Amino acid sequence: MPNKRKVVLRVNGRQHELALDPNVSLLQALRDLGHTDVKNGCEIGECGACAVLLNGKAVNSCMVLAWQADGAEVVTNAGLGTMDKPHVIQEAFADAGAVQCGYCTPGMVISTKALLDRNPDPSEAEIREALSGNLCRCTGYTQIVEAVRLAAERLRDGQLAVAAVAPPTALLKGERVAESSRSPGGPGVAAVAPPTASLKGERAAESSRSPGGPGVAAVAPPTASLKGERAAGSLRSPSGSAPSGHEKRGDRR
Ligand code: FES
Ligand code: FES
Repeated sequence: MPNKRKVVLRVNGRQHELALDPNVSLLQALRDLGHTDVKNGCEIGECGACAVLLNGKAVNSCMVLAWQADGAEVVTNAGLGTMDKPHVIQEAFADAGAVQCGYCTPGMVISTKALLDRNPDPSEAEIREALSGNLCRCTGYTQIVEAVRLAAERLRDGQLAVAAVAPPTALLKGERVAESSRSPGGPGVAAVAPPTASLKGERAAESSRSPGGPGVAAVAPPTASLKGERAAGSLRSPSGSAPSGHEKRGDRR
């Protein structure tokens, strides 16, 4: 079809070359590719269920056209961790009882990742603000806030343990495993540590990107940018307005 646009999507480290109608949203493109961990809640930027990281920034993928993400790095919840190897944030959500039906969880995890990348020790108010664009119909939010606190704490502990155990020189020499086994934190340090390195790497990469690069700031329309980055507002109370589309959607894979 003449109107189709060629789009290269890089999702969770894998590259996809697609020909898409210009009006296809990133949400739809991702789900068509099988990334059904990106949830379709409202499709109007209200619920945050569809949140993904686009070049390191949380955006609502329903508010971004797929071609606007051409060449950008997209990371979904499943790209952060798996059932076998969960990310620290995902583990914290499970441990804190912050998952009930789980429909909001992928978006919550993505928003938490974006928050902790830029602020490793957020206050409760900062957590609530950062998650203000993510609605949950089940938990009442208390456990979710607790999960974010727990994740932040574990990530910080992991950072400290690595710093105490393996000086940079040792790491360069490939002595990480030997050093980890002698650490006060024991052999578990290695399992806790990777997200720290990952977070630092992503922050560095993000800050080095030019404003004109293929990132979210460049590609997302103003509405998507504002809603995706959850610039303002406080976490809605359980009694707050719910996204009408959230309950109506039939596609709940
Ligand atoms: S589906 Fe995108 S914000 Fe609700
Ligand atoms: S756990 Fe059900 S919507 Fe959040």
